[in-house]
Amino acid sequence: MSSSIVSTVGRRVWDSRARPTIEVEITLADGTVARAIAPAGASTGSGEAVDRRDGGDSFGGLDVRHAIASVNGEIAKALHGRDAHDQTGIDALLIKLDGTPNKARLGGNSMIATSMAVLHAAALSSKKPLWHYLAGDGPVSIPVPEIQIFGGGAHAARRVDIQDFMVICPTAGSFAEALDRTAEVYRAAGGLLKARGLLQGVADEGGFWPAFESNEEALDMLVKAIEAAHFQPGKDVSISLDVAASEFGAKGRYRLARDGREIDTEGMIQLLSGWIDRFPIISVEDPVAEDDAAGFKAFVAREGKRVQVIGDDFLVTDAARVERSAADKSCTAVLIKPNQAGTIFETKAALDAGKRNGFGTIVSARSGETEDTTIAHLAVGWNAGQFKVGSISRGERTAKWNEMLRIEAHLGAKARFAGDALVYAR
Ligand code: PGA
Ligand code: ZN
Repeated sequence: MSSSIVSTVGRRVWDSRARPTIEVEITLADGTVARAIAPAGASTGSGEAVDRRDGGDSFGGLDVRHAIASVNGEIAKALHGRDAHDQTGIDALLIKLDGTPNKARLGGNSMIATSMAVLHAAALSSKKPLWHYLAGDGPVSIPVPEIQIFGGGAHAARRVDIQDFMVICPTAGSFAEALDRTAEVYRAAGGLLKARGLLQGVADEGGFWPAFESNEEALDMLVKAIEAAHFQPGKDVSISLDVAASEFGAKGRYRLARDGREIDTEGMIQLLSGWIDRFPIISVEDPVAEDDAAGFKAFVAREGKRVQVIGDDFLVTDAARVERSAADKSCTAVLIKPNQAGTIFETKAALDAGKRNGFGTIVSARSGETEDTTIAHLAVGWNAGQFKVGSISRGERTAKWNEMLRIEAHLGAKARFAGDALVYAR
């Protein structure tokens, strides 16, 4: 068969934090060659697929030589002769081959790179762009981007507690226009920081390094940047936060190092409610820790009509967790990160579970990224509606935004911008 896999090769490449990662290259009988690269998180949920790392001294124990040996050995052998169009069968084979509940044996990193490379190979072999291969002839929409202006949390040495201070522009007429607005805000924020002597480069995802004295100072500055860029906060440009609360909280206790205090779940919800009162925040991710399902539920009950409530570390791109969250109303949206799931099939299952239950779905990058643009195609081809990649600086981020611009331009008048994609509690 022309689309059968004739070779699977793993090689070591580098991510945006100078850490080794895995690229997988698949060749088909018809000569198609396709590649994909595994990303890596820093604020990982405990329920995620686990990356396989070598340990020891080199690169802080983060080398991936053993995982690559698995790709070139047992994975290549298992995939030989398989039809690249049989994504479900190949992913099931990878899961069986690994044999662990958290993908620790082969590594979530080797598995997702392989799974994504297979998908690319199938699309290329059908001579279709990946988004088109996934969407078929059904309608597609271009997702709303949420874009980081200040980094924080685990991506900025915990200079502030909150991880992502982002802007989101659902009122833009197009993806391109949302990026235009965001770029003006980013410029304005840089200018304000410079004028105050606070400009200290950028954090892991390209947002400005948050040299602030408090979390609120960052929010204040973000509103000032939106105004300085001549936009109306809450109308033209709104705010989205990823609290990533598992990074500073567990067992109902939250240590806000920047604000110098420790609070309980109720205190955390009150703090966020106060910010939602005072700032134009329309989406909040991981408002409480991953072990705090009751806290998520209380937050949705209190704020779910004013803000979209996204589960990331809490739901870890897992269909069963999404179903449970829908049943107990603990989120209104789910972040979709392919490497949290470990295969394309499981990633899609989590997204489908979200859609089935009326959740918002946000395809997302990781803090450790590369030039790989697979997720831009997933976001369009699966009609996710929302897309999160970090900031609008650094090549590993702009690679994804720019790919989305190309897709939007290619679709022309057929491109529907999903400005209505955010989901609130009813
Ligand atoms: P991570 O952060 O890739 O470091 O896990 C991204 C996020 O929390 O959304
Ligand atoms: Zn997150």
